[in-house]
Amino acid sequence: MRDRTSHGFAGLGDLEDSAAHTLPPALWDYVQGGAAEETTLRENRRAFLRRTLRPRVLVDISEIDPTTTLLGSAVAAPFYVSPTAYHGAVHPDGEAGTARAASEAHVLAAFSTLSTASLEAIATAAPHGPRWFQLYLQPEFASSRRLIERAEKAGYAALVLTVDMPVVANRDRQSKAGFALLESPPLGNGPEIVGPARGFVPRGSTFTLRSETSSGWDVLDRIQSVTSMPLVVKGILTGEDARTAVEHGARAVVVSNHGGRQLDGAPASLDALPEVVAAVGDRAEVFFDGGVRRGADIVMALALGAKGVGIGRPILWALGVGGQAGVERVLSLLKHDLVTTMALTGRRRVSEIDASLMGTPHGG
Ligand code: FNR
Ligand code: LAC
Repeated sequence: MRDRTSHGFAGLGDLEDSAAHTLPPALWDYVQGGAAEETTLRENRRAFLRRTLRPRVLVDISEIDPTTTLLGSAVAAPFYVSPTAYHGAVHPDGEAGTARAASEAHVLAAFSTLSTASLEAIATAAPHGPRWFQLYLQPEFASSRRLIERAEKAGYAALVLTVDMPVVANRDRQSKAGFALLESPPLGNGPEIVGPARGFVPRGSTFTLRSETSSGWDVLDRIQSVTSMPLVVKGILTGEDARTAVEHGARAVVVSNHGGRQLDGAPASLDALPEVVAAVGDRAEVFFDGGVRRGADIVMALALGAKGVGIGRPILWALGVGGQAGVERVLSLLKHDLVTTMALTGRRRVSEIDASLMGTPHGG
């Protein structure tokens, strides 16, 4: 018998496996799948596996402090819950369970426009947060504006604008599984809210998309004119775009390829991180997500310049297997694994995790 607790998994090593056996197959394929041939999805993991850490020893590591500050919010650890859609489809505890688990652990959590609970219900479930609201632009700006105003009123500490999904990519695994949730999502934020467009409309010999996809960088100015929440731009993979986002007032960017779910052929997030860090300098915070599964992954992303590291699928796995208790458990396991890696690399504080920690790649 495996040592499964009431949370439904024994450790980080068997969480994915437990979730694979718990979630209905079509939902599992939606969660796990990436775009097209899933090359970018695979590379997100490989980018970690090929890198090495240069540990320092005989450092006084009798006290390790993993706390940090993410855009002004004091948190227990430099990782956060990335925004993902439809928590209520994964477990009845839904976003409220995720929010409570994160808040009790003093871990930052971001919640999607496409949540199954309303953003107000999420705020009520865990009033102390810290929590961010993730926006998918709606076809009419007035509708985006209403969401932004609701989030600000409900006490969200920042607004995350996701920019890498003007249209949902072709996701072969999802299509094969026949997952249709995206087409009729049970959205908590209201029946008028829509997810990103799922297709083009052919017009003569060209292809057109929904109206919000005509937005340029000035949409960042427009958003900031209706809110005082700091703006985070998620889905940046180049130094050029990072620089432009900062010039338009973004307080942070998230280096992300949407967990390999959008442009197949995009670089692994970790490979794009140094370029963005160099472009941004100290003008904004740089966050990161994609393929983070262990404490050592968190340490590598921090060593390459990330201020905070987002966790996507593992949160959904944990929620699916154990509801709120599952999320509490995975956050605690990740923190323990992070602290262990800090001890084994001779880093007592997050500020000591620097570029000198990165070694030559395996075999390099
Ligand atoms: C996502 N992601 C995402 N991002 C976002 O900005 N809004 C969203 O609604 C969603 N929804 C979503 C659903 C599912 C099922 C997944 C797996 C991902 C992307 C997410 O925030 C993050 O960028 C990636 O998940 C990070 O990669 P890992 O940790 O899953 O490898
Ligand atoms: C996804 C969207 C909802 O990746 O962000 O499925």
